[in-house]
Amino acid sequence: MTKDEKLDTAYSLKTPDDSRKLYGDWAESYEEDFVETSGYILHIHVARAFSEAGGEGPVLDVGAGTGLVGEALAQFDPGEIDGTDISPEMLQQAAEKGVYRALFPGDILAGLGLPDGVYSGVVSAGTFTLGHVGPDGLDEVVRLLTSGGLAVIAVRDAHFTESGFEQKIAELEPVLSEVGKTSVRIYAEGADGPHADDQAILLHLWKA
Ligand SMILES: C[S@@+](CC[C@H](N)C(=O)[O-])C[C@H]1O[C@@H](n2cnc3c(N)ncnc32)[C@H](O)[C@@H]1O
Repeated sequence: MTKDEKLDTAYSLKTPDDSRKLYGDWAESYEEDFVETSGYILHIHVARAFSEAGGEGPVLDVGAGTGLVGEALAQFDPGEIDGTDISPEMLQQAAEKGVYRALFPGDILAGLGLPDGVYSGVVSAGTFTLGHVGPDGLDEVVRLLTSGGLAVIAVRDAHFTESGFEQKIAELEPVLSEVGKTSVRIYAEGADGPHADDQAILLHLWKA
């Protein structure tokens, strides 16, 4: 399968179990046959945006995958970084990055079973996207943030407009002090294929 066929397969997933299976099979070759061939840079945008907005640890990387966000974030020295993902196989790859304090399997849509307000920061790239995690995943993100904490969540732009993210943000407004949105490229300039110019919204959520 080409990188674009893999991406189209990922975008057409329907359930968290579909994700667990796809990424379980894909974990060992995800970076080699997708990241390295596609020019994927979303993890770098998320790490930089979190740092530039003053984000601090402890930080949770949601849908950590093979650990690209944690690796990029560690360069900014934000403090402790944890990671969670629905796929234990992806987390095994993430462990090899050597930047996470803890890695634990979990479905952000089902809730992670942690107490409220345990993280000063939450980051996510490539997970709030078509066929993966929808706006309801933001409930758990915001619940896990401490007062004054910051989440920087990348949401594929088509998913943001089609799946009700604005409505979810409006629902969460009573517990947020500020919301910000910027658009970024998911793949570097010069990428090829039908997804080359895909964009994501970097959603900044500050907990009141
Ligand atoms: C495209 S990968 C992105 C991985 C990594 N953040 C990156 O930027 O390379 C999407 C990740 O989301 C995870 N995922 C999908 N649904 C999830 C859910 N409901 N809860 C937690 N993780 C999920 C997948 O297992 C996969 O590792």
